[in-house]
Amino acid sequence: MKRIQIINGPNLNLLGKREPGVYGSQSFDEYLTTLKAIFPQMTIDYFQSNSEGELIDRIQEAGFVADGIVLNAGAYTHTSIAIADAIRAVQAPVIEVHISNVFSRESFRHHSYLSAVCKGSISGFGLDSYRLALASFE
Ligand code: DQA
Repeated sequence: MKRIQIINGPNLNLLGKREPGVYGSQSFDEYLTTLKAIFPQMTIDYFQSNSEGELIDRIQEAGFVADGIVLNAGAYTHTSIAIADAIRAVQAPVIEVHISNVFSRESFRHHSYLSAVCKGSISGFGLDSYRLALASFE
């Protein structure tokens, strides 16, 4: 049984309510039920925080016990050297995920501090981006 940690960053607790034209109308809790049904052979842990430090704490904790981390760091993707350093520090491979296609949006979303230290990046498939990331750990 593989253990995968999903980590969502700031404002992703508002999925379903937040800019539905960009992020869809489904809450993450609802989608998580679907993900768990698609991957019954995985133990999927979920954590969300709006705080950079709490995201780093969870990357450090999961990074030495999980088989992989699926991380949507939200806007911290574009600002956080500290999260990049945390990813670099842990053993578990990290997949960077974005719901929207960040490259078709504002130019400040085109740069990620995380991409270079992640195993790979998935962007633009809506919530299905998370499924694609989990499938890479199968
Ligand atoms: C996001 C894209 C980021 O630019 C944005 O700040 C988010 C969500 C996405 O999933 O598309 O909060 O990571």
